[in-house]
Amino acid sequence: MWSPEKYLTFATERARPFHDLMARVPAVDPADVVDLGCGPGTLTLELAARWPDARVVGVDSSAEMIKAAPGGRAEFVLADLRDWAPAQPVDVLISNATLQWVPDHLDLLPHLAGHVAPGGWFAFQVPANFAEPSHVLLREQAASPRWTSRLQVSWPSSHEPVIYLQALLGLGFAADVWETTYLQVLPGDDAVLEWMSGTALRPVLAELSGPDADEFLEEYRAALRTAYPAGPHGTVLPYRRVFAVAQKEAHA
Ligand SMILES: C[S@@+](CC[C@H](N)C(=O)[O-])C[C@H]1O[C@@H](n2cnc3c(N)ncnc32)[C@H](O)[C@@H]1O
Repeated sequence: MWSPEKYLTFATERARPFHDLMARVPAVDPADVVDLGCGPGTLTLELAARWPDARVVGVDSSAEMIKAAPGGRAEFVLADLRDWAPAQPVDVLISNATLQWVPDHLDLLPHLAGHVAPGGWFAFQVPANFAEPSHVLLREQAASPRWTSRLQVSWPSSHEPVIYLQALLGLGFAADVWETTYLQVLPGDDAVLEWMSGTALRPVLAELSGPDADEFLEEYRAALRTAYPAGPHGTVLPYRRVFAVAQKEAHA
């Protein structure tokens, strides 16, 4: 379902929240660092560069993504993050822009938190823009009579910041949770369609082929052009994201 090339089309915009997340993780000399849902691995390598003495592992369930992962100082593992477990608890557990793809991920947080060593850090970031026209129009189109019988899509979703805060505090972590809306100015024609082609459109296109896929795309393209008219400087795509950085008690 994933295309590393498509995903990296907006590499700068997609990396920004990762950097904002990691700026709030003050771990000094971690031994084990894990990136759950590492995608094409470019950001995992940044973790390895930041902590040169750490063992850094990227985990992803997409064979295409793992295949695209760069060589270097990180290990990459093809696995579903729900089943994967480290040999021993890790000092930094990161998940950037991934948990929204895991249904019921809130229920998974205790399991993931169990992978974190005492005094270690658990940090994740999820998009929170699913009420934006880009997603609403996509879901509405997929649910329309023309398409509904052909599509069985599991849509990405996330929770309000306070829900994550309560979950992490309830697990005994000290937690810092916040949200940011980036006003992304995207270049090119059909910039929002391009953006969505790298993420939420992928499960739809995975179920359609040939002329059907083309037809679906044309309908969605027209709707996006109305919702996000291109301006003289590009197309503005507001993008809300939720961040959580939590530390486990040192004597947990
Ligand atoms: C939007 S990409 C984010 C990639 C990377 N973290 C980044 O920020 O560039 C989401 C990634 O999560 C992976 N993913 C989704 N569900 C997963 C699961 N259950 N287990 C492991 N990886 C998963 C996808 O394969 C994809 O590579």
